[in-house]
Amino acid sequence: MTENQNLEALKTPGAVFFIFGATGDLAKRKLFPAIYSLYREGKLAEDFAVIGVARRPRTQEEFREDIFQSIQEFCRYKAEDNDNWKTFAQHFEYKSLDINNVDGFRELNEQTVKLEKQFGIPGNRLFYLALAPELFGSVSFNLQKGGMLDAEGWNRLVIEKPFGYDLKSAEELNEQIRQVFKEEEIYRIDHYLGKEMVQNIEVIRFANAFFEPLWNNKHIANVQITLSETVGVEERGGYYDHAGALRDMGQNHMLQMLTMIAMEPPSRLLPEDIRDEKVKVLRSLRPYETAEEVKKNVIRGQYIKGSARGKDLPAYREEDKVDPNSNTETYFAARLFVDNFRWAGVPFYIRTGKRLPVKTTEIVVEFKSMPNNVYLGKKYKLEPNLLVIRVNPMEGIYVKINAKKPGSENEIEPLAMDFCQSCMVGINSPEAYERLLHDAARGESTYFTRWDEVASAWSFVDKIAEAWAQNQGDISYYPAGSWGPKETDELLKADGFHWWPVNGQEEDNVVWQIGK
Ligand code: BG6
Repeated sequence: MTENQNLEALKTPGAVFFIFGATGDLAKRKLFPAIYSLYREGKLAEDFAVIGVARRPRTQEEFREDIFQSIQEFCRYKAEDNDNWKTFAQHFEYKSLDINNVDGFRELNEQTVKLEKQFGIPGNRLFYLALAPELFGSVSFNLQKGGMLDAEGWNRLVIEKPFGYDLKSAEELNEQIRQVFKEEEIYRIDHYLGKEMVQNIEVIRFANAFFEPLWNNKHIANVQITLSETVGVEERGGYYDHAGALRDMGQNHMLQMLTMIAMEPPSRLLPEDIRDEKVKVLRSLRPYETAEEVKKNVIRGQYIKGSARGKDLPAYREEDKVDPNSNTETYFAARLFVDNFRWAGVPFYIRTGKRLPVKTTEIVVEFKSMPNNVYLGKKYKLEPNLLVIRVNPMEGIYVKINAKKPGSENEIEPLAMDFCQSCMVGINSPEAYERLLHDAARGESTYFTRWDEVASAWSFVDKIAEAWAQNQGDISYYPAGSWGPKETDELLKADGFHWWPVNGQEEDNVVWQIGK
């Protein structure tokens, strides 16, 4: 394929993109910049239009100005206020709408038909709901009642998390949406699946002769997934205090990364085959049925006052819109088991939290050690081999191996073979939302969560949440700016392991610093 043919193949089909919640944060920070990047890279068909929908009144000019600002501030490409920009901006329109009012949807349909005529768009419509999930049902119904789904082409619904609060509420939500859209028309976003390095897991695993044969319980000692954040709850106290880390990050991002690490190779590279394999992993997770099992395997924490980089930080309970007696977890760590033939007995340790010392997402695969009682192991302390996948914000892969210390006769020291993707000049990795919007517009659903994945993840998480709800006091505290409750270290110590330090971690208590 020539470069031009390649680009043509990547192009989205002509479509109208509806952004519900167009004056909100997600649209401003992620969605408009994503659309502009796709346009700049030639991945967006010329016959496209975007209609921003929100309640507040906005003129077309004001809306286009909002988009210009959002691109200047948040996009990897900057726009210039010239004719090119004007041509691009022509494709954007705004509609002020009360989403409970069907008439508004009828007007929206008229506006859409006009735009479709103007740009020769073949009736394909993509509805992106950057809205609270309580509104997904009514928007879906009114889209149908208002005639918005009767055009010639396809209809797709893209929805944001959280998809429910537990299995029951997720089922209710799903039922509402399914009265209007078919499962294959629904694209549930988990933005971690849009990240370059999460998508790369599949390739690293299945395209390398020296990983796949070792990818099992005979050779892997444990897997560690860390998703640490420096931020607190910012302006989202109201939502977060209700959700907590397990629902906000565990049910979705953490379990999704785990499935990518643990799944079997699919028989074909088709979305349904890949998602079938992922859901099997979720179904194989060993459930924690009793409060004792939960206590033994899952630790929850909440940050108290602390400091980071010379700045004092408030306790979680002092944050805006948070209950001063809240028992919501801002951190959790867990030891999980995937009970199938490949993974029997291998612990998967996952941890995530707010107000930790660094912002990073990393996956460490620790291989079983070489025998320490023969040959080199007799004399030297051999470190286990590690494969480290750095997801965010650094992107790259490290492999830690034992080698001879340079200059010495036969001393051994661990060294890292390091591929730092984000350090490479000229690599400007697409944002997760660019990839996901691009995929949804092309009908490529691999990196969206199917209903059975969502349901399996909830049924696993619900049991933990229920046990916690019965033992409200069972929570550990950690100072903001620290690495979370110390019990987390015990979780691994009990199995003879320790957390491997992540990128940017200070050296205290660090056994071995990756990349040093
Ligand atoms: C979101 C959570 O899904 O992911 C937030 O709701 C979290 O609480 C965010 O901060 C983290 O995403 P990223 O891409 O910044 O690591």
